Amino acid sequence: MNITIVGTGYVGLVSGACIADLGNHVVCLDIDQSKIDLLNAGGVPIYETGLREVIERNVDTGRLVFTSDTQQAIEHADLIFIAVGTPADEDGSADLQYVLSAARSIGRWMKHFTVIVEKSTVPVGTCDKIAEAVRAELAVRFPNADQAPGFTIASNPEFLKEGAAVEDFSRPDRIVVGISKDENGQRALAMLRQLYAPFNRNHERTRVMDVRSAEFTKYAANAMLATRISFMNELANLADHVGVDIELVRQGIGSDPRIGYSFLYAGTGYGGSCFPKDVRALIRTAEEHGRELKILGAVENVNRDQKRVLVDRIFAHFGSDLRGRTIAVWGLAFKPNTDDMRDAPSRVVVAALLRAGARVVAHDPVAAEEARRVLALDLHDVPAALQQFDIVGKPMDALRGADALVIVTEWKAYRSPNWGALKREMQQAIIFDGRNLYDPHLMQSEGIAYHGIGRAA
Ligand code: UGA
Repeated sequence: MNITIVGTGYVGLVSGACIADLGNHVVCLDIDQSKIDLLNAGGVPIYETGLREVIERNVDTGRLVFTSDTQQAIEHADLIFIAVGTPADEDGSADLQYVLSAARSIGRWMKHFTVIVEKSTVPVGTCDKIAEAVRAELAVRFPNADQAPGFTIASNPEFLKEGAAVEDFSRPDRIVVGISKDENGQRALAMLRQLYAPFNRNHERTRVMDVRSAEFTKYAANAMLATRISFMNELANLADHVGVDIELVRQGIGSDPRIGYSFLYAGTGYGGSCFPKDVRALIRTAEEHGRELKILGAVENVNRDQKRVLVDRIFAHFGSDLRGRTIAVWGLAFKPNTDDMRDAPSRVVVAALLRAGARVVAHDPVAAEEARRVLALDLHDVPAALQQFDIVGKPMDALRGADALVIVTEWKAYRSPNWGALKREMQQAIIFDGRNLYDPHLMQSEGIAYHGIGRAA
Protein backbone atom coordinates (compact mmCIF):
# COMPACT_ATOMS: atom_id res chain seq x y z
CA MET A 1 0.00 0.00 0.00
CA ASN A 2 1.06 3.60 -0.52
CA ILE A 3 1.06 5.37 2.79
CA THR A 4 1.97 8.85 3.97
CA ILE A 5 2.59 9.78 7.57
CA VAL A 6 2.22 13.45 8.38
CA GLY A 7 4.54 14.36 11.28
CA THR A 8 7.83 12.65 12.12
CA GLY A 9 7.65 12.96 15.91
CA TYR A 10 7.68 9.93 18.20
CA VAL A 11 4.48 8.38 16.95
CA GLY A 12 4.91 9.38 13.30
CA LEU A 13 8.48 8.21 12.92
CA VAL A 14 7.96 4.90 14.70
CA SER A 15 4.70 4.23 12.84
CA GLY A 16 6.27 5.15 9.49
CA ALA A 17 9.30 2.92 9.99
CA CYS A 18 7.28 -0.02 11.31
CA ILE A 19 4.60 0.24 8.59
CA ALA A 20 7.34 0.28 5.93
CA ASP A 21 8.75 -2.80 7.62
CA LEU A 22 5.47 -4.60 6.87
CA GLY A 23 6.22 -4.13 3.16
CA ASN A 24 4.42 -0.87 2.39
CA HIS A 25 5.72 2.20 0.57
CA VAL A 26 5.83 4.93 3.17
CA VAL A 27 6.50 8.63 2.81
CA CYS A 28 7.15 10.48 6.08
CA LEU A 29 6.28 14.15 5.72
CA ASP A 30 7.37 16.92 8.06
CA ILE A 31 7.38 20.70 7.65
CA ASP A 32 10.55 20.88 9.77
CA GLN A 33 13.20 20.84 7.03
CA SER A 34 16.08 20.36 9.49
CA LYS A 35 14.47 17.16 10.80
CA ILE A 36 14.00 15.84 7.25
CA ASP A 37 17.61 16.74 6.39
CA LEU A 38 18.81 14.92 9.48
CA LEU A 39 16.77 11.81 8.63
CA ASN A 40 17.95 11.88 5.02
CA ALA A 41 21.54 12.10 6.24
CA GLY A 42 21.04 8.88 8.24
CA GLY A 43 20.37 10.57 11.59
CA VAL A 44 17.54 9.65 13.97
CA PRO A 45 16.16 12.61 15.97
CA ILE A 46 14.95 10.52 18.95
CA TYR A 47 16.52 7.82 21.08
CA GLU A 48 14.40 4.69 20.78
CA THR A 49 15.57 1.09 21.09
CA GLY A 50 15.72 -0.66 17.70
CA LEU A 51 14.35 2.28 15.71
CA ARG A 52 17.57 3.11 13.87
CA GLU A 53 17.81 -0.46 12.52
CA VAL A 54 14.20 -0.47 11.27
CA ILE A 55 14.67 2.92 9.60
CA GLU A 56 17.96 1.92 7.97
CA ARG A 57 16.75 -1.33 6.48
CA ASN A 58 13.63 0.28 5.00
CA VAL A 59 15.44 3.33 3.64
CA ASP A 60 17.91 0.92 1.99
CA THR A 61 15.12 -0.95 0.21
CA GLY A 62 13.51 2.36 -0.87
CA ARG A 63 10.30 1.63 1.05
CA LEU A 64 10.79 4.52 3.46
CA VAL A 65 11.28 8.10 2.27
CA PHE A 66 11.49 11.38 4.20
CA THR A 67 10.34 14.61 2.62
CA SER A 68 9.06 18.11 3.31
CA ASP A 69 7.30 18.22 -0.08
CA THR A 70 3.65 18.25 0.97
CA GLN A 71 2.15 17.96 -2.50
CA GLN A 72 4.23 14.94 -3.46
CA ALA A 73 3.60 13.22 -0.11
CA ILE A 74 -0.17 13.69 -0.22
CA GLU A 75 -0.53 12.69 -3.87
CA HIS A 76 1.42 9.49 -3.18
CA ALA A 77 -0.94 8.04 -0.64
CA ASP A 78 -4.03 5.86 -0.41
CA LEU A 79 -3.83 6.06 3.36
CA ILE A 80 -2.63 9.18 5.15
CA PHE A 81 -1.86 9.00 8.85
CA ILE A 82 -1.95 12.23 10.83
CA ALA A 83 0.62 11.93 13.60
CA VAL A 84 1.46 15.54 14.39
CA GLY A 85 1.73 16.96 17.91
CA THR A 86 -1.28 18.02 19.97
CA PRO A 87 0.41 20.12 22.68
CA ALA A 88 -1.60 21.48 25.58
CA ASP A 89 -3.05 24.95 25.15
CA GLU A 90 -2.70 27.36 28.06
CA ASP A 91 -6.02 26.14 29.50
CA GLY A 92 -4.99 22.48 29.20
CA SER A 93 -7.10 21.68 26.15
CA ALA A 94 -5.41 20.03 23.18
CA ASP A 95 -4.10 22.52 20.63
CA LEU A 96 -5.34 21.25 17.28
CA GLN A 97 -3.61 23.74 15.00
CA TYR A 98 -1.13 21.18 13.61
CA VAL A 99 -3.80 18.52 13.10
CA LEU A 100 -6.07 20.94 11.25
CA SER A 101 -3.22 22.34 9.18
CA ALA A 102 -2.38 18.75 8.12
CA ALA A 103 -6.06 18.27 7.23
CA ARG A 104 -6.05 21.39 5.05
CA SER A 105 -2.91 20.23 3.24
CA ILE A 106 -4.58 16.92 2.51
CA GLY A 107 -7.64 18.68 1.09
CA ARG A 108 -5.40 20.92 -0.99
CA TRP A 109 -3.46 18.12 -2.70
CA MET A 110 -5.35 14.80 -2.60
CA LYS A 111 -6.10 13.43 -6.06
CA HIS A 112 -8.00 10.19 -5.49
CA PHE A 113 -10.02 8.43 -2.80
CA THR A 114 -8.04 8.81 0.41
CA VAL A 115 -8.39 7.33 3.85
CA ILE A 116 -7.27 9.81 6.49
CA VAL A 117 -6.23 8.03 9.66
CA GLU A 118 -6.03 10.14 12.79
CA LYS A 119 -3.27 8.74 15.03
CA SER A 120 -2.44 11.74 17.22
CA THR A 121 -4.25 11.81 20.55
CA VAL A 122 -7.19 14.14 19.91
CA PRO A 123 -10.34 15.05 21.83
CA VAL A 124 -13.70 13.63 20.91
CA GLY A 125 -15.07 15.37 17.83
CA THR A 126 -11.70 16.17 16.25
CA CYS A 127 -12.20 13.77 13.34
CA ASP A 128 -15.35 15.75 12.46
CA LYS A 129 -13.26 18.93 12.43
CA ILE A 130 -10.68 17.24 10.21
CA ALA A 131 -13.44 16.25 7.77
CA GLU A 132 -14.73 19.84 7.73
CA ALA A 133 -11.24 21.24 7.02
CA VAL A 134 -10.64 18.76 4.18
CA ARG A 135 -14.08 19.47 2.71
CA ALA A 136 -13.50 23.24 2.82
CA GLU A 137 -10.24 22.87 0.83
CA LEU A 138 -11.83 20.51 -1.67
CA ALA A 139 -14.68 22.99 -2.19
CA VAL A 140 -12.15 25.58 -3.33
CA ARG A 141 -10.63 23.19 -5.85
CA PHE A 142 -13.88 21.54 -6.95
CA PRO A 143 -16.81 23.98 -7.01
CA ASN A 144 -18.85 21.04 -8.27
CA ALA A 145 -18.67 18.73 -5.24
CA ASP A 146 -19.44 15.62 -7.33
CA GLN A 147 -16.07 15.94 -9.04
CA ALA A 148 -14.07 16.02 -5.80
CA PRO A 149 -12.23 12.85 -4.79
CA GLY A 150 -13.86 10.95 -1.94
CA PHE A 151 -12.35 10.53 1.50
CA THR A 152 -13.13 9.20 4.92
CA ILE A 153 -11.65 9.70 8.37
CA ALA A 154 -10.71 6.85 10.67
CA SER A 155 -9.56 7.17 14.26
CA ASN A 156 -6.71 4.78 15.03
CA PRO A 157 -5.10 5.91 18.29
CA GLU A 158 -1.61 4.72 19.09
CA PHE A 159 -0.82 3.07 22.41
CA LEU A 160 2.97 2.69 22.15
CA LYS A 161 5.19 3.55 25.10
CA GLU A 162 8.36 5.53 24.71
CA GLY A 163 11.41 3.37 25.24
CA ALA A 164 9.54 0.32 23.90
CA ALA A 165 7.97 2.01 20.90
CA VAL A 166 9.12 -0.34 18.12
CA GLU A 167 8.24 -3.39 20.19
CA ASP A 168 4.83 -1.98 21.17
CA PHE A 169 3.99 -0.96 17.62
CA SER A 170 5.03 -4.32 16.21
CA ARG A 171 3.23 -6.37 18.88
CA PRO A 172 0.12 -4.38 19.76
CA ASP A 173 -2.24 -5.84 22.34
CA ARG A 174 -5.12 -4.08 20.61
CA ILE A 175 -5.70 -2.06 17.46
CA VAL A 176 -8.52 0.39 17.97
CA VAL A 177 -10.20 1.51 14.75
CA GLY A 178 -12.99 4.06 14.84
CA ILE A 179 -14.82 4.21 11.54
CA SER A 180 -18.13 5.32 10.08
CA LYS A 181 -20.68 2.72 9.01
CA ASP A 182 -21.15 4.14 5.49
CA GLU A 183 -19.63 2.72 2.32
CA ASN A 184 -16.45 4.81 2.46
CA GLY A 185 -15.97 3.85 6.09
CA GLN A 186 -16.25 0.15 5.31
CA ARG A 187 -13.84 0.55 2.39
CA ALA A 188 -11.36 2.22 4.77
CA LEU A 189 -11.86 -0.52 7.35
CA ALA A 190 -10.98 -3.15 4.75
CA MET A 191 -7.77 -1.25 3.93
CA LEU A 192 -6.81 -0.93 7.58
CA ARG A 193 -7.52 -4.61 8.18
CA GLN A 194 -5.23 -5.43 5.27
CA LEU A 195 -2.52 -3.11 6.61
CA TYR A 196 -2.60 -4.59 10.09
CA ALA A 197 -3.18 -8.21 9.03
CA PRO A 198 0.38 -9.22 10.02
CA PHE A 199 -0.43 -8.30 13.64
CA ASN A 200 -3.60 -10.33 13.70
CA ARG A 201 -2.35 -13.67 12.44
CA ASN A 202 -2.91 -15.74 15.56
CA HIS A 203 -5.41 -13.60 17.32
CA GLU A 204 -7.77 -10.85 16.17
CA ARG A 205 -6.69 -7.69 17.97
CA THR A 206 -8.75 -5.12 16.09
CA ARG A 207 -11.51 -3.42 18.05
CA VAL A 208 -13.83 -1.73 15.57
CA MET A 209 -16.05 1.04 16.91
CA ASP A 210 -17.47 4.43 15.99
CA VAL A 211 -15.03 7.31 15.57
CA ARG A 212 -15.89 9.20 18.76
CA SER A 213 -15.60 6.15 20.99
CA ALA A 214 -12.16 5.44 19.48
CA GLU A 215 -11.00 9.00 20.15
CA PHE A 216 -12.23 8.69 23.74
CA THR A 217 -10.66 5.25 24.28
CA LYS A 218 -7.17 6.71 24.03
CA TYR A 219 -7.83 9.27 26.76
CA ALA A 220 -9.60 6.72 28.93
CA ALA A 221 -6.58 4.38 28.76
CA ASN A 222 -4.05 7.03 29.74
CA ALA A 223 -6.33 8.47 32.41
CA MET A 224 -6.83 5.02 33.95
CA LEU A 225 -3.07 4.36 34.04
CA ALA A 226 -2.34 7.80 35.51
CA THR A 227 -5.02 7.15 38.14
CA ARG A 228 -3.38 3.89 39.19
CA ILE A 229 -0.07 5.66 39.64
CA SER A 230 -1.43 8.57 41.68
CA PHE A 231 -3.50 6.14 43.75
CA MET A 232 -0.39 4.12 44.63
CA ASN A 233 1.64 7.26 45.31
CA GLU A 234 -0.97 8.49 47.73
CA LEU A 235 -1.05 5.13 49.52
CA ALA A 236 2.77 5.06 49.59
CA ASN A 237 2.89 8.42 51.34
CA LEU A 238 0.51 7.07 53.97
CA ALA A 239 2.52 3.82 54.19
CA ASP A 240 5.51 5.87 55.33
CA HIS A 241 3.52 7.09 58.31
CA VAL A 242 2.02 3.79 59.39
CA GLY A 243 5.00 1.45 59.10
CA VAL A 244 3.95 -0.27 55.88
CA ASP A 245 6.05 -1.37 52.89
CA ILE A 246 4.15 -0.31 49.73
CA GLU A 247 6.17 -2.76 47.64
CA LEU A 248 4.72 -5.70 49.60
CA VAL A 249 1.28 -4.16 49.29
CA ARG A 250 1.77 -3.84 45.52
CA GLN A 251 2.50 -7.54 45.30
CA GLY A 252 -0.36 -8.36 47.62
CA ILE A 253 -2.95 -6.54 45.54
CA GLY A 254 -1.41 -7.10 42.11
CA SER A 255 -1.89 -10.85 42.44
CA ASP A 256 -5.64 -10.23 42.10
CA PRO A 257 -6.15 -10.56 38.33
CA ARG A 258 -8.81 -7.85 38.49
CA ILE A 259 -6.09 -5.47 39.64
CA GLY A 260 -2.95 -6.86 37.97
CA TYR A 261 0.66 -5.92 38.69
CA SER A 262 1.49 -3.27 36.13
CA PHE A 263 1.41 0.47 36.69
CA LEU A 264 1.27 0.09 40.44
CA TYR A 265 4.77 1.33 41.18
CA ALA A 266 4.91 4.20 43.61
CA GLY A 267 7.55 6.76 42.74
CA THR A 268 8.25 10.40 42.04
CA GLY A 269 5.14 10.92 39.95
CA TYR A 270 4.38 10.35 36.29
CA GLY A 271 5.91 12.51 33.58
CA GLY A 272 6.39 12.39 29.84
CA SER A 273 4.51 13.91 26.98
CA CYS A 274 1.32 11.91 27.37
CA PHE A 275 -0.14 11.33 30.84
CA PRO A 276 0.10 14.93 32.10
CA LYS A 277 -1.22 16.37 28.82
CA ASP A 278 -3.97 13.81 28.31
CA VAL A 279 -5.25 13.96 31.89
CA ARG A 280 -5.49 17.75 31.60
CA ALA A 281 -7.14 17.58 28.18
CA LEU A 282 -9.79 15.14 29.41
CA ILE A 283 -10.52 17.35 32.42
CA ARG A 284 -10.88 20.26 29.98
CA THR A 285 -13.21 18.30 27.67
CA ALA A 286 -15.44 17.60 30.65
CA GLU A 287 -15.45 21.28 31.61
CA GLU A 288 -16.42 22.26 28.08
CA HIS A 289 -19.48 20.06 28.56
CA GLY A 290 -20.29 21.50 31.97
CA ARG A 291 -18.98 18.42 33.78
CA GLU A 292 -16.30 17.96 36.39
CA LEU A 293 -14.03 14.89 36.44
CA LYS A 294 -13.38 14.86 40.19
CA ILE A 295 -11.16 11.80 40.28
CA LEU A 296 -8.89 13.05 37.49
CA GLY A 297 -8.56 16.45 39.16
CA ALA A 298 -7.25 14.63 42.24
CA VAL A 299 -4.96 12.43 40.09
CA GLU A 300 -3.34 15.56 38.71
CA ASN A 301 -2.95 17.25 42.10
CA VAL A 302 -1.44 14.15 43.69
CA ASN A 303 1.02 13.93 40.83
CA ARG A 304 2.06 17.57 41.12
CA ASP A 305 2.78 17.09 44.84
CA GLN A 306 4.51 13.75 44.28
CA LYS A 307 7.19 15.34 42.13
CA ARG A 308 8.22 17.29 45.23
CA VAL A 309 8.24 14.37 47.68
CA LEU A 310 11.97 13.71 47.30
CA VAL A 311 12.78 17.40 47.76
CA ASP A 312 10.62 17.61 50.90
CA ARG A 313 12.43 14.60 52.36
CA ILE A 314 15.83 16.08 51.58
CA PHE A 315 14.80 19.36 53.20
CA ALA A 316 13.45 17.48 56.22
CA HIS A 317 16.84 15.80 56.57
CA PHE A 318 19.28 18.62 55.78
CA GLY A 319 17.12 21.73 56.18
CA SER A 320 16.03 23.86 53.27
CA ASP A 321 19.33 25.73 52.95
CA LEU A 322 21.55 23.40 50.97
CA ARG A 323 24.48 25.75 50.44
CA GLY A 324 27.72 23.83 50.80
CA ARG A 325 26.01 20.48 50.13
CA THR A 326 26.65 18.27 47.12
CA ILE A 327 23.75 16.11 45.97
CA ALA A 328 24.20 13.33 43.42
CA VAL A 329 21.26 12.60 41.12
CA TRP A 330 20.92 9.35 39.19
CA GLY A 331 18.49 9.53 36.27
CA LEU A 332 17.07 12.59 34.53
CA ALA A 333 14.85 11.28 31.70
CA PHE A 334 11.16 10.96 32.65
CA LYS A 335 11.61 7.19 32.51
CA PRO A 336 14.33 4.72 31.42
CA ASN A 337 15.25 4.01 27.80
CA THR A 338 14.41 7.46 26.52
CA ASP A 339 16.10 10.86 26.44
CA ASP A 340 12.72 12.56 26.79
CA MET A 341 12.67 15.24 29.49
CA ARG A 342 9.11 16.45 28.96
CA ASP A 343 7.43 16.90 32.36
CA ALA A 344 10.20 14.78 33.90
CA PRO A 345 10.09 14.74 37.72
CA SER A 346 13.87 15.31 37.69
CA ARG A 347 13.23 18.86 36.47
CA VAL A 348 11.35 19.65 39.68
CA VAL A 349 13.91 17.88 41.86
CA VAL A 350 17.08 19.32 40.29
CA ALA A 351 15.67 22.84 40.04
CA ALA A 352 14.56 22.82 43.71
CA LEU A 353 17.95 21.53 44.90
CA LEU A 354 19.83 24.14 42.88
CA ARG A 355 17.53 26.91 44.05
CA ALA A 356 18.21 25.81 47.63
CA GLY A 357 21.92 26.37 47.00
CA ALA A 358 23.12 22.78 46.55
CA ARG A 359 25.73 21.66 44.07
CA VAL A 360 24.08 18.98 41.94
CA VAL A 361 26.08 16.34 40.08
CA ALA A 362 23.87 14.20 37.88
CA HIS A 363 24.15 11.16 35.67
CA ASP A 364 21.85 9.87 32.94
CA PRO A 365 22.82 7.28 30.31
CA VAL A 366 21.25 9.20 27.40
CA ALA A 367 19.37 12.34 28.47
CA ALA A 368 22.36 14.52 29.49
CA GLU A 369 22.23 16.85 26.52
CA GLU A 370 18.46 17.29 26.59
CA ALA A 371 18.55 17.76 30.38
CA ARG A 372 21.10 20.56 30.06
CA ARG A 373 18.89 22.27 27.50
CA VAL A 374 15.62 22.11 29.46
CA LEU A 375 17.14 22.91 32.85
CA ALA A 376 18.77 26.01 31.39
CA LEU A 377 15.26 27.12 30.39
CA ASP A 378 13.70 26.12 33.74
CA LEU A 379 16.37 28.04 35.67
CA HIS A 380 16.77 31.03 33.38
CA ASP A 381 15.96 33.36 36.28
CA VAL A 382 18.84 32.03 38.44
CA PRO A 383 21.84 31.64 36.09
CA ALA A 384 24.21 31.41 39.07
CA ALA A 385 22.46 28.23 40.25
CA LEU A 386 23.10 26.62 36.89
CA GLN A 387 26.83 26.97 37.42
CA GLN A 388 26.40 24.57 40.34
CA PHE A 389 25.00 21.87 38.01
CA ASP A 390 27.18 19.18 36.44
CA ILE A 391 26.36 16.07 34.45
CA VAL A 392 28.99 13.33 34.49
CA GLY A 393 29.58 10.30 32.25
CA LYS A 394 29.55 7.51 34.88
CA PRO A 395 27.13 6.93 37.79
CA MET A 396 29.96 6.50 40.33
CA ASP A 397 31.54 9.82 39.27
CA ALA A 398 28.40 11.63 40.40
CA LEU A 399 28.90 10.32 43.96
CA ARG A 400 32.31 11.85 44.67
CA GLY A 401 32.04 13.79 47.92
CA ALA A 402 28.21 13.75 47.81
CA ASP A 403 26.12 14.30 50.93
CA ALA A 404 23.27 12.29 49.45
CA LEU A 405 22.28 10.29 46.39
CA VAL A 406 18.85 10.92 44.86
CA ILE A 407 17.45 8.37 42.41
CA VAL A 408 14.86 9.83 40.06
CA THR A 409 14.82 7.43 37.06
CA GLU A 410 15.13 3.65 37.34
CA TRP A 411 17.72 2.98 34.64
CA LYS A 412 19.05 -0.61 34.72
CA ALA A 413 22.58 0.69 35.33
CA TYR A 414 21.53 1.80 38.84
CA ARG A 415 19.98 -1.47 39.98
CA SER A 416 22.97 -3.11 41.65
CA PRO A 417 25.76 -0.68 42.36
CA ASN A 418 28.96 -1.69 44.12
CA TRP A 419 27.98 -0.70 47.66
CA GLY A 420 31.58 -0.57 48.91
CA ALA A 421 32.56 1.84 46.13
CA LEU A 422 29.41 3.88 46.71
CA LYS A 423 30.22 4.33 50.40
CA ARG A 424 33.85 5.20 49.64
CA GLU A 425 32.88 7.86 47.12
CA MET A 426 30.16 9.54 49.18
CA GLN A 427 30.72 11.94 52.02
CA GLN A 428 27.71 10.42 53.78
CA ALA A 429 25.95 7.24 52.63
CA ILE A 430 22.37 8.49 52.34
CA ILE A 431 20.03 7.48 49.51
CA PHE A 432 16.71 9.12 48.66
CA ASP A 433 15.28 6.58 46.26
CA GLY A 434 12.36 7.87 44.20
CA ARG A 435 11.98 4.52 42.40
CA ASN A 436 12.28 1.99 45.22
CA LEU A 437 15.16 0.17 43.56
CA TYR A 438 16.73 -1.30 46.68
CA ASP A 439 15.75 -3.58 49.52
CA PRO A 440 15.55 -1.50 52.72
CA HIS A 441 16.92 -4.45 54.77
CA LEU A 442 19.97 -4.72 52.51
CA MET A 443 20.52 -0.99 52.90
CA GLN A 444 20.37 -1.36 56.65
CA SER A 445 22.94 -4.15 56.63
CA GLU A 446 25.19 -2.08 54.36
CA GLY A 447 24.96 0.82 56.81
CA ILE A 448 23.31 3.09 54.26
CA ALA A 449 20.59 5.49 55.39
CA TYR A 450 17.77 4.72 52.97
CA HIS A 451 14.62 6.70 52.22
CA GLY A 452 12.33 5.03 49.68
CA ILE A 453 8.77 5.93 48.74
CA GLY A 454 6.44 4.13 51.14
CA ARG A 455 9.06 1.65 52.41
CA ALA A 456 8.75 2.38 56.12
CA ALA A 457 8.13 -1.15 57.39
C1 UGA B 1 2.01 6.32 27.88
C2 UGA B 1 1.16 5.03 27.79
O1 UGA B 1 1.70 4.02 28.65
C3 UGA B 1 1.10 4.52 26.36
O2 UGA B 1 0.23 3.38 26.28
C4 UGA B 1 0.56 5.63 25.45
O3 UGA B 1 0.52 5.23 24.10
C5 UGA B 1 1.46 6.85 25.58
O4 UGA B 1 1.49 7.28 26.95
C6 UGA B 1 0.87 7.93 24.70
O5 UGA B 1 -0.19 8.45 25.04
O6 UGA B 1 1.41 8.18 23.61
P1 UGA B 1 4.65 6.85 27.96
O7 UGA B 1 4.26 8.26 28.24
O8 UGA B 1 5.68 6.56 26.92
O9 UGA B 1 3.35 5.98 27.51
O10 UGA B 1 5.22 6.27 29.31
P2 UGA B 1 4.79 5.19 30.41
O11 UGA B 1 5.68 4.03 30.34
O12 UGA B 1 3.35 4.94 30.38
O13 UGA B 1 5.17 6.00 31.74
C7 UGA B 1 4.55 7.24 32.06
C8 UGA B 1 5.01 7.73 33.40
O14 UGA B 1 4.44 6.97 34.45
C9 UGA B 1 6.51 7.69 33.63
O15 UGA B 1 6.92 8.89 34.22
C10 UGA B 1 6.70 6.52 34.57
O16 UGA B 1 7.84 6.65 35.39
C11 UGA B 1 5.44 6.61 35.42
N1 UGA B 1 5.04 5.33 36.02
C12 UGA B 1 4.69 4.27 35.27
C13 UGA B 1 5.00 5.24 37.41
O17 UGA B 1 5.32 6.22 38.15
N2 UGA B 1 4.61 4.06 37.98
C14 UGA B 1 4.25 2.99 37.25
O18 UGA B 1 3.88 1.94 37.84
C15 UGA B 1 4.31 3.09 35.85
